[in-house]
Amino acid sequence: IRDTLNSVVKDGVIDFTDIDITEEEIKKYSQIYIVACGSAWHVGVEAQYVIEELAQIPVRVELASEFRYREMPLVKDGLVIVISQSGETADTLAAMRMAKDKGLATLAVVNVIGSSIAREADKVFYTLAGPEISVATTKGYSAQLVALDCIAVQFAKVKGLITDEQYSYYISELQTIPEKIEKILQDKERIQWFAAKYANAHDVFFVGRGVDYAVCLEGSLKLKEISYIHSEAYAAGELKHGTIALISEGVPVIAVATQKHVYSKVISNIREVKARGAYVTLLTREKEITDPSICDVHISLPDIADEFAIFEAVVIFQLIAYYTSVGKGLNPDQPRNLAKSVTVE
Ligand code: AGP
Repeated sequence: IRDTLNSVVKDGVIDFTDIDITEEEIKKYSQIYIVACGSAWHVGVEAQYVIEELAQIPVRVELASEFRYREMPLVKDGLVIVISQSGETADTLAAMRMAKDKGLATLAVVNVIGSSIAREADKVFYTLAGPEISVATTKGYSAQLVALDCIAVQFAKVKGLITDEQYSYYISELQTIPEKIEKILQDKERIQWFAAKYANAHDVFFVGRGVDYAVCLEGSLKLKEISYIHSEAYAAGELKHGTIALISEGVPVIAVATQKHVYSKVISNIREVKARGAYVTLLTREKEITDPSICDVHISLPDIADEFAIFEAVVIFQLIAYYTSVGKGLNPDQPRNLAKSVTVE
């Protein structure tokens, strides 16, 4: 995260010279399409909230495997951002080629230097996470988040939508993330202890609103892909539209409530599942929660800007998945049926 930030933050401001995006181009983009697969697509779901909130540019987030085969009218002065750790994912590469054929500008957010997507994109933002060995992405995902959040902040500044003070605040908040993650990692034994409670679970639900919902998508995938436990991520407000029928005594629900503007709404959603017997693990930025009866385990995250709280939540989720996998005697580095880069359809 420090390396990704230091590649674009120079003397307290974001500088996209190396990425070759000019201020004139930024002002011209009337629509952003984010196209990716898997965890990279989860980054896009998060980025949509932050870019639309700060830069006020409409964002569509599309799965590359869908985008490449649907007849979607693309806005000519749109920017297509493709996100890929490997830079070799077949669907993402094909989707980018299709966008280029239609005359749209393409920006690749990629980790592997000189990969196919990096070479063919008009512009490249390298995430500099270093080689990522395990099949399940962790640092690759977090470095992609940094890149997209820098894009959101810089686009907002160039468009004059945030003040100099807000600009400096967001940049300084991004720069506190590494030390806050280090603080979370100091507490990993506690996470190992309650991860043991998921080892025999059959279904785990991750719920949140806004960017908390986006990070639930990643938490759910991490648990599925390395511990083989079925899980689903749900927008907390959506539970009552069907899925709450699956909540019964002891069903694990991991809830994230870091977003101030919807905090009370998520808490009321948690009360609904708790009333039906769910085993609730609640992640908040509050040190103490006023009503301890709403959850079985409370994890307090270091305070940080709402937009960036998911950097902390995702580390908790990565650790839960890791310890659950190891607790089941599995090898988290080589999950069955999976490849590090999906270079075929
Ligand atoms: C990540 O844990 C998954 N293994 C997978 O979803 C991955 O994010 C996806 O295949 C996209 O890969 P890419 O970022 O290399 O394009």
